[in-house]
Amino acid sequence: MPTPEMSLTLTPEHIMIRDAARDFAQNEIAPKAAHFDETGEFPSETIKKMGAQGYMGLEIPEEYGGAGLDTLAYVLALEEISKADAAHGTIMSVNNSLFCHAIYKWGTEAQKQKFLKPVASGQKIGAYSLTEPMSGSDAGNMKSRAVREGAGYVIDGRKSWVTSAPVADFVMLFTMTAPEKKHKGISAFLIETTQPGFSRGKKEPKLGIRASATSEIVFEGYQCPAENRLGEEGEGFKIAMGVLDAGRIGIASQALGIAEAAYDASLEYAKQREAFGQKIGEFQGIQWKIADMKTRIEASRLLIYDAALAKMASKHTGERYTLKASMAKLFASETAMFCAHQAVQIHGGMGYSKELPVERYFRDAKITEIYEGTSEIQRMVIARQELGLR
Ligand code: CAA
Repeated sequence: MPTPEMSLTLTPEHIMIRDAARDFAQNEIAPKAAHFDETGEFPSETIKKMGAQGYMGLEIPEEYGGAGLDTLAYVLALEEISKADAAHGTIMSVNNSLFCHAIYKWGTEAQKQKFLKPVASGQKIGAYSLTEPMSGSDAGNMKSRAVREGAGYVIDGRKSWVTSAPVADFVMLFTMTAPEKKHKGISAFLIETTQPGFSRGKKEPKLGIRASATSEIVFEGYQCPAENRLGEEGEGFKIAMGVLDAGRIGIASQALGIAEAAYDASLEYAKQREAFGQKIGEFQGIQWKIADMKTRIEASRLLIYDAALAKMASKHTGERYTLKASMAKLFASETAMFCAHQAVQIHGGMGYSKELPVERYFRDAKITEIYEGTSEIQRMVIARQELGLR
């Protein structure tokens, strides 16, 4: 049984999974990343291929359409996919660690058959919807409502910043069933986007991860059968938060992939580019940047693998891995931003040009400090855990 104390050395199987993901990402995704960034097109074809390879439901057992691997395999694969293109990383992360993970953990057998199987196998796409126009970090303070009527619920309201919403077949929705109970009045529902009463708002024009489609979603009298409620009434906030613990390990892995891509490009450039009669890598100013980037990348990797092992152990112990997930997400996302910033600086004018992917890494890195809990929220979660406040 894996425990958090287990060695962080990768097994030959994990190395094989990482190398296969690297080959796939570099051959199938990297050559198209600039095109998808430029056009903002959703990369349907490569996502389908990822589904066929098992990347859209990596930790889900094969009987429910997944690849049946573990969390360490998931973070290794996600790191490689994100190194090629962070937008593909976002789509993969939300599908795996938010949508599939939640249904596998809290879903009924019928929900697993109907919603998990097609999403884990990559035939359909799943989204996760918590945020509203007036509640982001303060996630429990939502205005949308699900009112019990007969054999189901009628849902009304508006949700925002929903990753994959423009293309999603299903959405995991968190909404209020008992507003007077505050966060204890939130419930989770599995939404079918083909049903009347559901519509999508305009696609968000984003700074980075532009190929990952994001939009508002709107509910107007959407009728949701009671069997599509995930968990019990009032359990929604705990599900949302528990799932975000897993999601944050995913975003940390995405951030690590971006940081590594920025670092690799910088290392190559420092070895080739000359100024004042020598390679720029021979200047101490560049060496210090290289040293800081490398050290932060390796520290992020250890935090992420450690959080992944804690999540694997929690399957057996039931213990939360909130602290480790938040520390990995905080450190890796700030490392991605740091490395992308240094990479642009090392490349000088070329770092600012769209001729190289470095400026894309810089734009893509920023979101990792914002979504699935800002750096400020991660610090709050970490400090509360340490102080025993929650
Ligand atoms: N696991 C299980 N339960 C948890 C939990 C966790 N990780 N965190 C909190 N809870 C429980 C608490 O134990 C508490 O339970 P009781 O009521 O039984 O005591 C309950 O939830 C309320 O907890 P708090 O009092 O700590 O709640 P809070 O209102 O102070 O908020 C917060 C806590 C950490 C700030 C939380 O609101 C939060 O994480 N906010 C950020 C939201 C976020 O990350 N949004 C991202 C949107 S999703 C996204 O970006 C996806 C995408 O598309 C890419």
